[in-house]
Amino acid sequence: MGYIKSAALEETGYVVLDRYNTEIDPKEWLDLEYNDWKSSGDTRFAPLASAFGEIECNGFWNHKPPRTDKDGVWIPSQNAIAPTLTARAQEPGANVGRCRVIELQPNTYADCLYNLHQDDNNRLNPDGTGWVVRGFFNLTDDTDSYFVLRENRTDPSGEVRIALPAGAQLVIDTQRLWHAAAHYGTEPRYCLITSWESGPELDAYIEKYHGVNHTESVDVPQDVLDAGQAEQARRIAARAAALAARGQAEKLAMSEA
Ligand SMILES: [Fe+2]
Repeated sequence: MGYIKSAALEETGYVVLDRYNTEIDPKEWLDLEYNDWKSSGDTRFAPLASAFGEIECNGFWNHKPPRTDKDGVWIPSQNAIAPTLTARAQEPGANVGRCRVIELQPNTYADCLYNLHQDDNNRLNPDGTGWVVRGFFNLTDDTDSYFVLRENRTDPSGEVRIALPAGAQLVIDTQRLWHAAAHYGTEPRYCLITSWESGPELDAYIEKYHGVNHTESVDVPQDVLDAGQAEQARRIAARAAALAARGQAEKLAMSEA
């Protein structure tokens, strides 16, 4: 049968919506309760909706009973601190799964390439229902930062780099595209990330805010791109070597046991 997907995301896997141009009080993200939750860099997360309305960030499939990333339960104490953010996540009227603010400490393009990952948004998602994608609303005005998207983790061809000023709004099929943020500066970046179920509600929302599935990539000097690519390869090789060494040691320990 297959999943219900957005036609707008079919070609490139992402759309950039109109900028959100109303100022939001930074207290809406700074005063939230955060969990240490490492994902793609030095991060913490403040959930607005979670599997059972607790302030925790685990995938819904890790709970009992396990379920897919839909029907998130809003967390009243957090929603009271972040009413605008909550309203923005609810605006499309699409089913919401995980919804949280990410806090990301500054990093580099090379870090970002090493952090590239695909999300596990559709585990246990029943066939024939809506494919889960993610909305990203940049909250801080990170004018030197950008989101990196690739179809293949280690292949730079076709890489897209999307600017992250305050108010940037993206919808991305993050299970399809490898993604991470390069965040320059001295202060953390804050971004609201919402899991939405694809369907007519999300399609209407993308249309309302003029989603475009191509964007001019942020210009980065070629030497920075090349150095980042080389560093990504070095770190991936180092990690593989470390894992292999651990595997060898484990094998040795077992044979000696
Ligand atoms: Fe992700």
